[in-house]
Amino acid sequence: MEKTLVLIKPDGVSRGLVGEIIRRYEAHMLHISEMQLVQPTAEMLCAHYIEHVDKDFFCELVEYMSSGPVIALVLCGESAISLVRKINGSTNFMSAELGSIRGDFASSITQNLVHASDSQSGFEREYDIWFKSL
Ligand code: TYD
Ligand code: MG
Repeated sequence: MEKTLVLIKPDGVSRGLVGEIIRRYEAHMLHISEMQLVQPTAEMLCAHYIEHVDKDFFCELVEYMSSGPVIALVLCGESAISLVRKINGSTNFMSAELGSIRGDFASSITQNLVHASDSQSGFEREYDIWFKSL
């Protein structure tokens, strides 16, 4: 069994999509091992998106991610890291597959509803940010 860190971003919470999103993960035999509602701080977001600090979209990304609470989840299951990224769909909503969360619901490349770890080391780093720094 593998674990991955998922965030349901502020648009997912404010649009009332939390239940729909979690249902999709659970339908693929992923189980919730931890979950909480968190208001992200600038410090948490800078740490979470450290690889993107120099990108031109960084300010817009932090502003959006600060706009309301997020749901932080740890999901557990077989190949959870790659499976959750497949369920989420491509970063850019225009090319995200229909049937994926982003393909079905995302409204822009920035406002794309969900985050998921991309590796084991990414999961460990992100877990500390969202579940240990509170
Ligand atoms: P990235 O790590 O490339 O995507 P993913 O979330 O699929 O791992 O980018 C992180 C977030 O940054 C992405 O979910 C949305 C935002 N973003 C933009 O706002 N504009 C962009 O051009 C890109 C590439 C990402
Ligand atoms: Mg990423």
